[in-house]
Amino acid sequence: MNRMSTVTEAQIIEALSSVQEPDLKKDLVTLAMVEDINIDSDNNVSFTVVLTTPACPMKEQIKQSCIEAVKSQVPEAAAIEVNMTSKVTSSCGHHHCNHERPLKEVKNIIAVASGKGGVGKSTFSVNLAVSLAKTGAKVGLIDADLYGPSIPTMFGMQNAKPEMSGKNIVPLEKYGVKLMSIGFLVESDTALIWRGPMASSAIKQFITEVDWKDLDYLIFDFPPGTGDIQITIAQTIPLSGAVIVTTPQDIALADVSKAVSMFRKVKVPILGLVENMSYYELPDGTKDYIFGHHGGEIFAKTHGLPFLGAIPIDRAVREGGDNGTPYVLGHPDSATSQAIDRASGEVARMVSITNAAPAEELS
Ligand SMILES: Nc1ncnc2c1ncn2[C@@H]1O[C@H](COP(=O)(O)OP(=O)(O)OP(=O)(O)O)[C@@H](O)[C@H]1O
Ligand SMILES: [Mg+2]
Repeated sequence: MNRMSTVTEAQIIEALSSVQEPDLKKDLVTLAMVEDINIDSDNNVSFTVVLTTPACPMKEQIKQSCIEAVKSQVPEAAAIEVNMTSKVTSSCGHHHCNHERPLKEVKNIIAVASGKGGVGKSTFSVNLAVSLAKTGAKVGLIDADLYGPSIPTMFGMQNAKPEMSGKNIVPLEKYGVKLMSIGFLVESDTALIWRGPMASSAIKQFITEVDWKDLDYLIFDFPPGTGDIQITIAQTIPLSGAVIVTTPQDIALADVSKAVSMFRKVKVPILGLVENMSYYELPDGTKDYIFGHHGGEIFAKTHGLPFLGAIPIDRAVREGGDNGTPYVLGHPDSATSQAIDRASGEVARMVSITNAAPAEELS
């Protein structure tokens, strides 16, 4: 005999409209994040929650809240199955994307920058890209350092050359990340003597003349400093936001202030601050704060910036960069990888929040 379910779709929608998306501060139904509600004849309920990023750090929490809400508000529901999926939002078409976006298929372009050199921008960019790709996001990475490109080495692609497709360059791809670097186009011992305007127009071509196809996140590893080249890139590339990398040292933090004002001046939202080389963990488990204690975190607080995470000094992080296996792939379960994955999730989360924010809230 065919039974009829007694639970209705309206009841499930009602229950889920009491679940808040913790970052976007609205309920899942209002945000149109619930799809495919199914109720079988035994009152087994299933539905899909579409998050704004596969790297969402709140994934488990949102899933549990959905189950709790249905359980408590629809007691007749038998099994409850929640499928978590995602569709990355785009900064394109938003107020703060006031440029003609050259590539509609690229949803978000994220700058990784710092005022000071050698703080770990490239190292973080590489591991951020791979970490996001591991969650299922479509990711690209641009090495914007024309004078000292490091991405080819960090991906073990020193001798690779990209192909052309018509007038466009096809990006190389490794570890699930599409890559572009000047290092792929010129011999490594050729000194680049490009001056400012030439350099920034070359970088612009990395956006307009590379066949990125559709990407959720295009990570842009900035060259060090806050000079003309950096300002021109920040002004001409339609950035969704910038991640600032620093070490906890006062001297690095002084340069961070310059980077923060640069992005604020050209109205690029600052997604937050990552503190790299935060501490060194000694064999007995104690932490040695070689470059000072929590400098980045304190800076972020006093400047009203989100703190996205602290990454320790770890010999294997440096080795991963040198031997072409990004650290988060080589040591996926280590505490340092977890710290990098958490910081990457925070970057993705801040992109989603920024994309949903009204114009006046963006710095
Ligand atoms: N957390 C870390 N632990 C150990 N070594 C690290 C860490 N982060 C970066 N390094 C090492 O520090 C050096 C500088 O890092 P990286 O090249 O990423 O900095 P950068 O800010 O991109 O430099 P530049 O300003 O020259 O572009 C590299 O040798 C890298 O392997
Ligand atoms: Mg670098």
